[in-house]
Amino acid sequence: MFADRVLSGMRPTGACHIGHYHGALKNWVRLQDEHPCLFFVADWHALTTHYETPEVMERSVWDMLLDWFAAGVDPSKATVFIQSRVPEHAELFLLLAMATPLGWLERVPTYKDQIEKLRERDLSTYGFLGYPLMQAADILIYRANRVPVGEDQVPHIEMTREIARRFNHLFGREAGFEEKALAAVKKLGARRAKRYQELRSRFQEQGDEEALEQGRALLAESQSVSHGDLERLFGWLEGARRVILVEPEAALTESPRLPGLDGQKMSKSYGNEIGMREEPKVLAEKIRRMVTDPARVRRTDPGEPTRCPVWQLHLVYSNEDTREWVQKGCRTAGIGCLECKQPVIDAMIAEQEPWRARAQPYLDDPSLLRSIVADGCDRARAMAQETMRDVRGAMGLEYS
Ligand code: TRP
Ligand code: SF4
Repeated sequence: MFADRVLSGMRPTGACHIGHYHGALKNWVRLQDEHPCLFFVADWHALTTHYETPEVMERSVWDMLLDWFAAGVDPSKATVFIQSRVPEHAELFLLLAMATPLGWLERVPTYKDQIEKLRERDLSTYGFLGYPLMQAADILIYRANRVPVGEDQVPHIEMTREIARRFNHLFGREAGFEEKALAAVKKLGARRAKRYQELRSRFQEQGDEEALEQGRALLAESQSVSHGDLERLFGWLEGARRVILVEPEAALTESPRLPGLDGQKMSKSYGNEIGMREEPKVLAEKIRRMVTDPARVRRTDPGEPTRCPVWQLHLVYSNEDTREWVQKGCRTAGIGCLECKQPVIDAMIAEQEPWRARAQPYLDDPSLLRSIVADGCDRARAMAQETMRDVRGAMGLEYS
């Protein structure tokens, strides 16, 4: 709607592994060159499930941030901050809670799922139920319209859209809105104004979604109109409402499946991860011990790459020629598993080199990390405060 604004967050889990890199960070680094981006540490989210271990928070946060910068997240391009340093998130969370039906939260697929999966923790808490709403507040407070996430998070983004829609519907009425909207239409210029009115009636009278899209595109190109008027025109196009909170889209991150050392999904909680900055010797040793196709018990047994987690790594790290060499050599028992793993080891060590180099200044001077992130928090907070002024006003809280 307005300039594409990207936001994404990650729970603080300490130093990152290559699954974080290929699943999220690599994508963030690309996006920061194309869009205004906000990336944050979701420390309150961590407490919704791990409220019993607050003592690990500090390290988990800073170790993770260090690896974001090691990966190439650039604080001069993206705004990098910590959720709890922008308390406005909590205020929006509270205000959104007023009109959020309980059923919406109970129906989020991850809710019952996680309660089942994390049996050993007591998650029958108010905070855990509310966590997708907190996520909605994280997104809506920056009026972000693109949210890169993994598949499991898509239902949260869907709910965020519903929350925004409901908010605008309930609270997006401004005194004299219709008059103001009509005045704003005139500012589009005669031709565009006429086209806008046509598209608006096609959508409102016939529910023509394409007309809605065209109307939005027309507004996106209109430069002579102020931000406030533009916002009215977007609202007026859809109905008689003002858009206060912007509906975001999930930008599904396409990511390769990166298996851990035991073949399961890579995760710190399984202890099967390959860190982003492993000692080359340790890295090589880990890959040498990694599980392979169970059918290859002896060197002379042929194997099948599609049953082997090492093959998944070749798909990420090797070129066409190497992959062919693997497939043939494995199926004919022409190569051994250690031989097969070597190109992956070499590629991983090479990949990690720039990460180490970028991490070094932060390791030498930990205060550097603190000051860069403090600056990001200030910038994020200024944006959040702007939205909160509108939200408070719309909810009747800006009285004297
Ligand atoms: N819930 C996300 C996760 O567990 C992290 C997160 C919190 C997030 N707030 C967000 C992601 C806002 C995207 C946008 O991975
Ligand atoms: Fe896996 Fe390679 Fe061994 Fe085949 S040769 S089982 S692909 S490690």
